[in-house]
Amino acid sequence: MYSPLWFFIVLHGIFLACAYTGWSNLNSIPRKTIQYEDNHVITFKEKGVWNYSTMLIREDLGLLVLGAREAIYALDINDISVAKSKVPWKVTKEKQKECNSKGKHPDIDCRNYVRMLHQMNDSLMYVCGTNAFSPTCDYITYGDGRLKLEGNQEDGRGKCPFDPFQRSSSVMVDQDLYSATSLNFLGSEPVILRTSPIPLRTVFKSSWFNEPNFVYMDVVPESEDSPEGDDDKVYMFFSENAVEYDFYNKLVVSRVARVCKGDMGGQRTLQRKWTSFLKTRLDCSLPEPSLPYIIQDVFHVRHKKWRKSVFYAVFTSQSSSTDLSSAVCAYNVTDISEVFSRGKFKTEVNVEMSDVKWVMYNGELPVPRPGACINNAAKSAGIMRSLDLPDKTLQFIRDHPLMDDAVRPITGKPLLLKRGPLLTRLVVDDVSASDGQSYPVVFVGTENGYVQKAVNYNGEMHIIEEVKLFQNADPIDVLRLHQNQLYAGSASGVVQMPVSSCSRYFSCVDCVLARDPYCAWDATVQRCSRVPTSPENAKSNLIQSLMDGDATRCPTTAPVEPKIRTLVLGNNIRLLCHPDSNLAQVIWNFAGKPLPYSNRKYTIYNEGILVYNASAADAGRYTCTSVERAKGRDYTQTLAIYDLREQSAAVVTDKIKTTLGILSESYTTSSGLHKPEEPPSYSKNLSSESKWIVMQVALAVLSVMMACLLIWNLYMGHISPFMCCGRQSIKSPRNLPEREYMHTGNDAVDSKQQMVRLCVTTNSGLEATSFHRNITNGDTPTDICIFKYITDESEI
Ligand SMILES: *[C@@H]1O[C@H](CO)[C@@H](O)[C@H](O)[C@H]1NC(C)=O
Ligand SMILES: *[C@@H]1O[C@H](CO)[C@@H](O)[C@H](O)[C@H]1NC(C)=O
Ligand SMILES: *[C@@H]1O[C@H](CO)[C@@H](O)[C@H](O)[C@H]1NC(C)=O
Ligand SMILES: *[C@@H]1O[C@H](CO)[C@@H](O)[C@H](O)[C@H]1NC(C)=O
Repeated sequence: MYSPLWFFIVLHGIFLACAYTGWSNLNSIPRKTIQYEDNHVITFKEKGVWNYSTMLIREDLGLLVLGAREAIYALDINDISVAKSKVPWKVTKEKQKECNSKGKHPDIDCRNYVRMLHQMNDSLMYVCGTNAFSPTCDYITYGDGRLKLEGNQEDGRGKCPFDPFQRSSSVMVDQDLYSATSLNFLGSEPVILRTSPIPLRTVFKSSWFNEPNFVYMDVVPESEDSPEGDDDKVYMFFSENAVEYDFYNKLVVSRVARVCKGDMGGQRTLQRKWTSFLKTRLDCSLPEPSLPYIIQDVFHVRHKKWRKSVFYAVFTSQSSSTDLSSAVCAYNVTDISEVFSRGKFKTEVNVEMSDVKWVMYNGELPVPRPGACINNAAKSAGIMRSLDLPDKTLQFIRDHPLMDDAVRPITGKPLLLKRGPLLTRLVVDDVSASDGQSYPVVFVGTENGYVQKAVNYNGEMHIIEEVKLFQNADPIDVLRLHQNQLYAGSASGVVQMPVSSCSRYFSCVDCVLARDPYCAWDATVQRCSRVPTSPENAKSNLIQSLMDGDATRCPTTAPVEPKIRTLVLGNNIRLLCHPDSNLAQVIWNFAGKPLPYSNRKYTIYNEGILVYNASAADAGRYTCTSVERAKGRDYTQTLAIYDLREQSAAVVTDKIKTTLGILSESYTTSSGLHKPEEPPSYSKNLSSESKWIVMQVALAVLSVMMACLLIWNLYMGHISPFMCCGRQSIKSPRNLPEREYMHTGNDAVDSKQQMVRLCVTTNSGLEATSFHRNITNGDTPTDICIFKYITDESEI
């Protein structure tokens, strides 16, 4: 019973429990979830074209150059739905046959996937594609609004992968192309190649690369203000099978490596090979003991002073034993540089007969230091180029490319840990907030078509929102950021989205608790607005509290007016109430007491509650309250109050009153109090136009009937002429908790149309799309349908 094992298990349990409580704030839920239908993104896709995975931003030309399968596009960077030009780049029939004869799938593998796009100079771009397992590169120009493929095809081996499913990376530095990919058909010869007057590449040795997966590369201008006369470096990020661990299985580790820009290779040893290639492990370690996480993507946040630059990286788990499937870590460029310039090396030792182990090298290092760039010290010793390096230094670096120290993230731990769908790509924006500080906002793409927007506030990761960018659950393959616009590509298309949509926050509390550095509550116009980017435009009455999430400065809102609902005996009744935040808890009260959650009579779901089989005892007042906890404070908001009254003879008139109320209100709201901040949606349903005409006719007929009914009612004294206006004033958009008046920012659609279409969809038995959720969320428009198709209510 008291065996040591038992003791160990208990201890381990305690350790894990402590670890989890300490790290719980790293594993956050997005505060808001924006569905595809509510998110008015600009989309580009062409029928029959897939795999939009390569992007090049040409600010000078106002273009987003986009590489897809067998096509290259020049899109307007301000509105990517406008394709200014397209150039097809197809494989030839012979190439496709040849590829197929080597056992590859003719339609999947044997196509030309554009995988690389770089700017050479103002007029020339360089493009490479897989070209049916025969990588090829070419030049493109853009002039007179047209893209042109020059047709000077070059061998793309070592620049672009053969296999479209293999990752690769490249960067253009002063017209020299640095590329990391595989050199052969089988994908088994990994290489980092520089295509330049003096071409260089890596050595084929498992200590250099062991089945790597290249992810990212970029240049850091380390020669700037360098007292040692250091050189610029090109850093690359990849994962590979570890050589340094004893493990029963293949163990993958993440790596960062670098080379010096001025490298020219060795004279005898390492001829035409890198003499400055060094690599080390990149850690993004978790609280619990776990296998290393695998790097998936990197973003370089450049700073004017390179020492202050940061690399952000996204990782995924390689074991199924942890449910924390993804992580984001940030690395100080200076820290990485130091490991290479001052750290210890690892060396191979033979243990027993055949086994090798990698351990720290403690012997003397040759001079100049292996892997160092040619700096002032080397030059003063007469070594002007890497060609002059002594054999000892070169032999050492050939056999010891791996450093002993790993690079640890800034603050020593991940910025973000996530459960659920894997994170795939990331970009980072440095945002200046109203407090004059700047905060890095991380946009991470997921494997199921979402992008998550997160900020780290002093070690506390806060996910502002998750936005669904693609209708199908495609993985995000590429993310780019340019002037407050986010561009994302996937297999099925490309979308453009503004980095912030402050108009999504309707109330001051919602706006402040969002803790979105782009947004603040403007007390003058009573709206959540974009924080001015330049200090000259700074406004004084902005309410924003990023670090503290303190919404106590928000003005109090008008109390919520109760809504009257009719109780039909035996029917199911739906009462709507949707909280602003996924972090808020919704509490329903009935007749002053909390609604019993564990009762089969009620179902509480995220849009409200359902009361089954209503009886007389269910009549009374229902109150929906949300409680959101932020930084130790609770924010309680009453979202809706319903008075459920038993059906009487007057029920039909009640319904008519409601309907009339809505008709008049829809006209007032359509005059538009909220100006849309986002660009209008480009994905409108075309077939709705014809429906629209039919509906207009139907509406006209209905209006005439309504008018007759109204006159009859007024004549009979059932309603007073002031009724509608009374309701209207309650429902002015200021009274935010009235959910039906929340605009999602797209006012382009006439609310009359929304209302009618809603009825159409309900009628055809379809779920009302949440594109019209600003209306459908509220229950009143449904009443129109209920009025017409009253059986619906019992069918909920
Ligand atoms: C761009 O580069 C190409 C090839 O390197 C060269 O022929 C051309 O003159 C350059 N154009 C400009 C505008 O610099
Ligand atoms: C990185 O480290 C250097 C030197 O320690 C420091 O000056 C710099 O501010 C650090 N950068 C960041 C972003 O932490
Ligand atoms: C290309 O797109 C297709 C269709 O969505 C997808 O099945 C395939 O995996 C993609 N290929 C690559 C190489 O991304
Ligand atoms: C609804 O409630 C009544 C009594 O209030 C009961 O007799 C009846 O069986 C219930 N119907 C269903 C479907 O549960």
